[in-house]
Amino acid sequence: MHHIHLRDLEVSRIGLGAMGMSQGYTGAGTDEAESIRTVHRALELGVTFIDTAEIYGPYTNEELLGRALKGHRDQVVLATKFGLVSHGGDGPGTLDSSPANIRTAVEGSLQRLGTDHIDLYYQHRVDPNVPIEDMAAAVGELIAAGKVRAFGLSEAGPETIRRANAVTPVTAVQSEYSLFTRDPEARVLPTLRELGIGFVPFSPLGRGFLTGAIRSTDGFAEDDFRRDNPRFTGENFQHNLRLADEVKAVADEVGATPAQVAIAWLLAQGDDIAPIPGTKRVSRLEENTAADAVRLTPAQLDRLTSLPPAAGATHTEAQLKMLER
Ligand SMILES: NC(=O)c1ccc[n+]([C@@H]2O[C@H](COP(=O)([O-])OP(=O)(O)OC[C@H]3O[C@@H](n4cnc5c(N)ncnc54)[C@H](OP(=O)(O)O)[C@@H]3O)[C@@H](O)[C@H]2O)c1
Repeated sequence: MHHIHLRDLEVSRIGLGAMGMSQGYTGAGTDEAESIRTVHRALELGVTFIDTAEIYGPYTNEELLGRALKGHRDQVVLATKFGLVSHGGDGPGTLDSSPANIRTAVEGSLQRLGTDHIDLYYQHRVDPNVPIEDMAAAVGELIAAGKVRAFGLSEAGPETIRRANAVTPVTAVQSEYSLFTRDPEARVLPTLRELGIGFVPFSPLGRGFLTGAIRSTDGFAEDDFRRDNPRFTGENFQHNLRLADEVKAVADEVGATPAQVAIAWLLAQGDDIAPIPGTKRVSRLEENTAADAVRLTPAQLDRLTSLPPAAGATHTEAQLKMLER
């Protein structure tokens, strides 16, 4: 497994997103033993970068990782996120990046993860009610206290990134990026490169779509995030199947799987990028991790880069309001 640097934080260039082990997608939370085997297999295969958040569950995903990483803590760069749980207010689902809330949140995450430090602590969504400088200073204090090693932002726009970075150096920005969602290319990636900040693409498999495994939404559970997602509904879904077919066509040419090609395309975008494909299954973890060895030719990269944009918004209208792009 190759490693890269997000600013000065060294990580395996393919990480593991743990969210789907506890929430969001069909089958989440149903097989803890397989989820823990998946984390352990990731470590065996050289994956050192694991991603969670206090809102996943809420809390249960961090707890799961705490159990899975017992005795393995030093092998991983552990990333988690605050700001979508208001501890003194309305609880999960409420934006709160006030310094007091961050100080409460970090203690809970440390305890659930069974660790005395978080390697990369992201603000999960920008909170319009808290000056970004105040939030960045609060994380800076946690770094000074040794509770946090590095500071990150998620779905933050260029201006926010600049302002936060001026107070506490930002190590990485995590936003949705894949052949399914190209938004960061226009403004965010150039800003990160100018400032020397790393980039972590989340949902690198287009929430499973790019793998070609989703040909119908009939099997989605009631609480599957994709049920009311514009990209997975109606005509948009039918249109987007063609995108998945194109990825499959390149994969057939390469002799790889579509998931591997989707990840390999991201890896080819720069050595400052570390995608975190999500899975709760050992077999898919093995498949996704093997993308480290997949090389795409310039012609294959061009073909993928020229694919038309996916139809439909990445989120519902309410969710979109929380994103800066
Ligand atoms: N910062 C944020 O706001 C934010 C938002 C969303 C996600 N994230 C992070 O990013 C991580 C990854 O994103 P994601 O999980 O949303 O999406 P993703 O990685 O694009 O796709 C995950 C989905 O694809 C399926 N899958 C994985 N590998 C597969 C393969 N080889 N073949 C077929 N299907 C496969 C998974 O199902 P199985 O689990 O059943 O394999 C799951 O349903 C998350 O775990 C989370 O840590 C962050």
